[in-house]
Amino acid sequence: MKERENAVILSQERIAQGIYSMWLKTKAAGEARPGQFISMYTNDGSKLLPRPISICEIDKEKGALRVVYRVTGENTGTELFSKMQAGDTVPVIGPLGNGFPFEKAEGKKVFLMGGGIGVPPILELAKQVACAKKQIVVGYRDAETFLREEFEQNGEVYISTEDGSVGTKGNVMDAIRENALEADMIYACGPTPMLRAIKSYAEENGIECYISLEERMACGIGACLACVCKSKEKDHHTNVNNKRICKDGPVFLSTEVEI
Ligand SMILES: Cc1cc2nc3c(=O)[nH]c(=O)nc-3n(C[C@H](O)[C@H](O)[C@H](O)COP(=O)(O)OP(=O)(O)OC[C@H]3O[C@@H](n4cnc5c(N)ncnc54)[C@H](O)[C@@H]3O)c2cc1C
Ligand code: FES
Repeated sequence: MKERENAVILSQERIAQGIYSMWLKTKAAGEARPGQFISMYTNDGSKLLPRPISICEIDKEKGALRVVYRVTGENTGTELFSKMQAGDTVPVIGPLGNGFPFEKAEGKKVFLMGGGIGVPPILELAKQVACAKKQIVVGYRDAETFLREEFEQNGEVYISTEDGSVGTKGNVMDAIRENALEADMIYACGPTPMLRAIKSYAEENGIECYISLEERMACGIGACLACVCKSKEKDHHTNVNNKRICKDGPVFLSTEVEI
């Protein structure tokens, strides 16, 4: 079992309204893969459960991970993280979950799709994936298109915004249609309605598609079943149609899960 460790904050900055980027020095960097996450604990004894946050970038040489997170409200754990500074420590466990099977993209035309706070894990994926054509399709609410410059250094970038201020007005599926894009492999992370639309587009067009699901978590290590989703196949431990997002995922082949 992975041990809890005190990660040291190397830097922290606000990169958009309510969105923060933090680099952490942590042993978890050594074996991390794109699409995995870390469980971050606050130092506030009244908030015992960890916050699962995706790995946005991995720097193995420095032994550091980048996370990009949204503050969800006042007096939340993420608000406490946003007030921390370089030199402070954050207890973490990780890397957790399975990550994107990016090796399967070799020789393929690929969509890397992220929406909202599902955008960050797509960055390390874009850096590591080796494929014939890399099309990064990312969706935001408005002109605060955080991580855009980093994406532009790593592939062809297509943007959608809900208010139409940048790129295609609408969502990531609208951006695909407007630019007449095609792919034979998809990796995606974002809100459930977006993943549902991508899943049905992939299945209608016979495209292999991996989606990273999000669910409220408690233990983060597969022990409490707080995070299950419905699966096509029966789980061989419990004999029910369930998968634990924290342990069996968060990345699933789209045809394996019902969302
Ligand atoms: C695999 C995974 C990866 C994620 N990656 C990111 C990321 O990269 N950036 C980001 O901003 N957010 C990410 N999230 C969502 C993030 O975990 C929640 O926004 C965060 O836990 C909310 O905590 P809070 O302290 O702001 O809210 P609180 O209301 O104080 O949280 C209370 C409790 O509920 C849990 N909780 C609340 N909302 C969620 C949620 N949506 N998912 C899981 N647990 C939740 C918290 O972990 C905590 O235990 C991810 C979630 C999952 C499951
Ligand atoms: S959060 Fe406990 S099993 Fe997934």
